Amino acid sequence: MKTAITEMFGIQHPIIQGGMHYVGFAELAAAVSNAGGLGIITGLTQKTPELLAKEIARCRDMTDKPFGVNLTFLPAFTSPPYPEYIAAIREGGVKIVETAGRSPEQYMPALKAAGIKVIHKCTSVRHSLKAEAIGCDAVSVDGFECGGHPGEDDMPNMILLPRAAEELKIPFVASGGMADGRSLVAALALGAQGMNMGTRFIATKEAPVHENVKKALVAASELDTRLIMRQLRNTERVLDNKQVEHLLEIEREKGASLKIADIMEQVAGVYPKVMIDGDMDAGAWSCGMVVGLIHDVPTCKELIDRIMADADRIIRGRLTGFLDGKVASTAPQKVA
Ligand SMILES: Cc1cc2nc3c(=O)[nH]c(=O)nc-3n(C[C@H](O)[C@H](O)[C@H](O)COP(=O)(O)O)c2cc1C
Repeated sequence: MKTAITEMFGIQHPIIQGGMHYVGFAELAAAVSNAGGLGIITGLTQKTPELLAKEIARCRDMTDKPFGVNLTFLPAFTSPPYPEYIAAIREGGVKIVETAGRSPEQYMPALKAAGIKVIHKCTSVRHSLKAEAIGCDAVSVDGFECGGHPGEDDMPNMILLPRAAEELKIPFVASGGMADGRSLVAALALGAQGMNMGTRFIATKEAPVHENVKKALVAASELDTRLIMRQLRNTERVLDNKQVEHLLEIEREKGASLKIADIMEQVAGVYPKVMIDGDMDAGAWSCGMVVGLIHDVPTCKELIDRIMADADRIIRGRLTGFLDGKVASTAPQKVA
């Protein structure tokens, strides 16, 4: 399949693996890229720019295909040394950066001077237009369903994607709630040029996380995510667990007076405990509603091949079948 996104990034399939804290290591990025998608290393999981340089080198040892690095721009008070991270990306020869969080505007000159293609992830049409205006090459449009930070507009992809298509000139991928061939076809129908997946890629053989995490994703349903930190206007969609329930209780008690300090125990330093140690109740960690569509733990290649084969069947069989007057009696099968 060829789309503006496969051509822009030099990849075989229009499928991107979004940056994920303590998940997006070289092993996963290389596996996704080797399978014909675009793998992305999560920049800030590497505690220093030097460590990111090593992670990029490790990824290069595992794949000769294009891969990217995610740079998440956090609120100013915790600002990491972004220019040094960008230098590590440039010197590592990486040509694709996924930005997220705050606007990448101040870093665009450095990224563009290094010949880097920038895909900015954002949750609204206005932020997508801003990304286009400051010279981003593409946008990852992240709907309310998504794992991680869905923003504060609560706009699901069924509306957000066609709205983005109405307004944007640069290509965009659909992000949030994407899992399989059905997602890809729907994303393309709504105007996207591909899709970005987070949660789905955690439940793959190569994702370098504890087996408990993969088991929890397969066991969970679409009803098992919760939204936290709404009062702080830093909403995050996470998988429910004991600590998340406790956190929500604190949020209810504190109401509008909630401070980040009140929930520090439930949100700080959680990722290594969950992803490395497999302590599933350590605190709040991002997970999308798409968890309800995850029923197995394939390799990245099995997953991507299956998505592309299912998309082909849906487009050529089911959809053109409707046009040809063939009534398909059943919906596409549950995958795996
Ligand atoms: C465990 C986890 C950690 C994530 N960490 C980051 C991150 O550090 N930076 C970022 O830009 N997005 C992060 N995301 C968001 C993903 O890149 C992606 O946009 C999102 O997962 C898409 O929604 P989906 O989970 O429904 O596929 C994270 C998502 C998950 C599930």
